Amino acid sequence: MTAQLRVRPVTGTLGAEIGNIDLADVSPEQFAQLDELIVDRKVLFFRDQHLTSAQQVEFGSHFGDVLDCHPWTPSKEGVPKVMVIRNVAATGWHSDETWRTNTPMGSVLVCREAPEFGGDTLFLDMESVYNDLDDAWKSKLSELTAVHDHIQHRNRMIQKGVPASQIEAWREEFPAIAHPIVRTHPVSGRKSLFVNRVFTSHVSGLNPEESQELLDWIYSRNHKPEHQCRFRWEANSVAFWDNRSVQHCGVADFGTQKRLMERVTIAGPKPQ
Ligand code: SIN
Repeated sequence: MTAQLRVRPVTGTLGAEIGNIDLADVSPEQFAQLDELIVDRKVLFFRDQHLTSAQQVEFGSHFGDVLDCHPWTPSKEGVPKVMVIRNVAATGWHSDETWRTNTPMGSVLVCREAPEFGGDTLFLDMESVYNDLDDAWKSKLSELTAVHDHIQHRNRMIQKGVPASQIEAWREEFPAIAHPIVRTHPVSGRKSLFVNRVFTSHVSGLNPEESQELLDWIYSRNHKPEHQCRFRWEANSVAFWDNRSVQHCGVADFGTQKRLMERVTIAGPKPQ
């Protein structure tokens, strides 16, 4: 018989620290509990997990196909499914890779090397942000779609001197895509807001000023501390989040210390 998981919620609606589990050796009963917890708590935190890259990929594969890394962030040598995030924090609220047509279900981030201070990751409950809107706003936003694009990645590549022909090829491979601003979680049926500062370029059908004004208004709803939680990394900590209902944001406050993170990204459906 497998041990019952220890589940310590972080806030009323968001996050849980999970104990009594070895992510390298998860039983079917434990996976069944994790399937429910990831939808309910939206981000799960684990300590003292000693996962190889293959085990990290295997853990992620329970929840869906693990994607090969996209072309703009390095992958781990010999492991094309593991993205390496070295000495930077992915700042700016976002959910992962929303520029894809089928956006990721989840991500599993392992801390290989933690700074002594700083470098936390923040999480934002987009269902709570949606639930806080009044009915008029819920109804207005549910009529709209917004376009998502990997423009920030492209701009970084242009600065690095990548030839225009390559940039154009990426644009063709991953064209900008419209997703609903209010999406419905495919498992829980709950609604959440699905626009983010990093990848949403504009609201479909509005002129640039109207679009920016509306997006800024939506983003201003994110600031309430009650919608957020924060995770302090240690080496061998793991966070597993549901990209269908949370956004996250790294904090670049660790100076010149080392911070080495490795992520796998799990495929999901087109947002509806
Ligand atoms: C990520 O966006 O996947 C990484 C977040 C972080 O660097 O804290």
